[in-house]
Amino acid sequence: MKRKYMKLLIVALASSFCVVIIFSKLKVVEHNQKDLAKIPSVPASTPKKPTTVVISTVKKKSKSAMLYELPPLTISETFRKGFPKNGAFWNRKLHSLLRQFDSIDNQTHKDPRDKFHCQPESFELLQTNIQDIQSYPPLYGDFLRGMECRDPALLIDQPDKCASESGQDQMFLLFAVKSIPKHFERRQAVRETWGSEGLYENGLQVRTVFLLGRSSADDPNLDKLVSFEAQQFQDLLVWDFHDSFYNLTLKEHVFFKWMLDNCPRVSFVFKGDDDVFANTQAILNHLQSLEPEQATALYTGQIISDASPLRDPKIKYYVPQSFYEGPYPPYAGGGGFLFSGNLLPSLYHVSFYIPFFPIDDVYNGMCFKALGITATKHDGFKTFDIREQDRENPCVHKNLLLVHQRDPQQTMRLWRNMHSAMLTC
Ligand SMILES: *[C@@H]1O[C@H](CO)[C@@H](O)[C@H](O)[C@H]1NC(C)=O
Ligand SMILES: *[C@@H]1O[C@H](CO)[C@@H](O)[C@H](O)[C@H]1NC(C)=O
Repeated sequence: MKRKYMKLLIVALASSFCVVIIFSKLKVVEHNQKDLAKIPSVPASTPKKPTTVVISTVKKKSKSAMLYELPPLTISETFRKGFPKNGAFWNRKLHSLLRQFDSIDNQTHKDPRDKFHCQPESFELLQTNIQDIQSYPPLYGDFLRGMECRDPALLIDQPDKCASESGQDQMFLLFAVKSIPKHFERRQAVRETWGSEGLYENGLQVRTVFLLGRSSADDPNLDKLVSFEAQQFQDLLVWDFHDSFYNLTLKEHVFFKWMLDNCPRVSFVFKGDDDVFANTQAILNHLQSLEPEQATALYTGQIISDASPLRDPKIKYYVPQSFYEGPYPPYAGGGGFLFSGNLLPSLYHVSFYIPFFPIDDVYNGMCFKALGITATKHDGFKTFDIREQDRENPCVHKNLLLVHQRDPQQTMRLWRNMHSAMLTC
């Protein structure tokens, strides 16, 4: 008798346990469905917001047909004199482009895009121009072949990124963050911290975009994930080129172009990496404190002056002697810097006459110098990081504009601590 009761009890307990499990499973399913329901559907019927194309099916090509009327461009004398006319490949290319500019382009102000043709250069052709090309690092070959290719297709666009509801208030700051497809976690940390979009103190509009190319054939295919992320957050721009270190100047050039198309009236642009920590409020305060003449000709960050090419083939920043000669112009460390949005048309224009360079922050320095804009140093930019003992200290970070580098967890923690009501500095 007793045994029978025990058995019944066990059965009863077991079945109620099952019910609990099934119920909780159902809850999870329900929850998941709710999450899925929140994901905006693929914009099949809505043509604008956002134009997302599954990466492998490239179609979009409308805007690139548009040519711009660009403001008159003068290329500064100090820039022209800054690069020796000699046998180095890049130097020769530059001076030939400058001659081309002087002969026609300073008189027309037309978008010069259709004068440049992407004909990936053959190895033989390059070899006749660069005697010792055999000794170049293998990736340089890819870079050299693609130097004339400036118009890759835009695969994922955000045409409404800078649109505003009222249609009149101007975007104050745009964060343009260089990222690569697989850095999902870094991007999410940026979104949740310094890159979070919205209206800041004094009604300042801030938006964020991530600039991406495509992963290489050796990487797992992340196209679907990236495309999903773009739909979810509407902050990815993806171009059809291989996202590699040497292709960062190409990323720069297509970003300028995108800005002209989509964000022409932004006051300031932040360009930086996805592994930095930026202090958004301090950046906004600094930008608001500028005199009008500074605000329209701004190029600021941690300025590296008097640098020259590194000639050791084993390092990332190696530049061969037969490729480039001369010192580098002053440039802002590429981890993060700020510039005036009104310079974008001229930056885009001038970048046609400056051959692509393997190091993107040096290239930026060249573009600003060509426009006669002086790089202004700001001590709040720490692209080489700060003292080890200060790296987790929110009070130290309150006075800085940017530090490089922080991983996503450090970024989340620093942000939380900096904005804690308990913080007394
Ligand atoms: C174009 O540039 C050349 C060389 O600097 C100059 O001599 C010429 O006057 C310029 N033309 C115009 C229309 O600005
Ligand atoms: C840059 O991208 C182009 C287009 O995808 C590619 O052909 C080239 O190899 C890339 N260059 C480098 C240095 O990765």
